[in-house]
Amino acid sequence: MAKEQTPRTPQEYEMLTGGGAEAAEQSRQGLSRRQLLRRVVAVTAGLVGAEAVGGALVMIYPGLTSGFGGKITLKKKSAYPAAIPAEFDIENGKGVFYEFEAKSYIVHLAAETPWLLSGGALSDLIDSEWLVKDSDGTYWAAIYQRCVHLGCKFNFLTSCRSFKCPCHGSHYNDDGEYLSGPAPRSNDRFLLSFSGDTLVVDTGKLNSSVQHPSATTRLLQELPVQFACQ
Ligand code: FES
Repeated sequence: MAKEQTPRTPQEYEMLTGGGAEAAEQSRQGLSRRQLLRRVVAVTAGLVGAEAVGGALVMIYPGLTSGFGGKITLKKKSAYPAAIPAEFDIENGKGVFYEFEAKSYIVHLAAETPWLLSGGALSDLIDSEWLVKDSDGTYWAAIYQRCVHLGCKFNFLTSCRSFKCPCHGSHYNDDGEYLSGPAPRSNDRFLLSFSGDTLVVDTGKLNSSVQHPSATTRLLQELPVQFACQ
């Protein structure tokens, strides 16, 4: 009497015979080589088609995108307490916060922030740098974590109340404006908005046109010497 064959998974077959996945799949399903090839081609075509349809939908309806590259809903505003720049502290959650999913630092500047400009000049610059004024007089920004020099992820250093890139030392103020180093401009920022009292960062909309500030185009003071980064 013929011995009944025990069905094996492709992985088991591979271990027992030292064969490849293709042979294992043939063995498990009793397929001819041609049948197997047809199935592989059909599955591959299906995957490529699904990817193309998905890509087209995202282009037509960008709002469908979620995750990095689309709109990301973060926490409620109350999870991000505001602070003046000299009191920013990422470890204790004051003024600056890291959001992994949005690859961003959320900056929340207190209403008492001492700006260098005032009136229309201040509001124009705030608009052009994509800071968002809230109804309580505080200001928000979503600073992209990618250094505009060569793309390293920079950090917020509470010891020097500023952003510093570990690769070549580019240094940025609390609002992402350039301070020193080889970076060609200030940091890039994403579009930030509110949905009720919840933060939304649109990682598909990036402002990469904030230039090096000058004395007349700087929002915040350069850092006092006690905050010099080592
Ligand atoms: S990549 Fe940041 S300073 Fe060079």
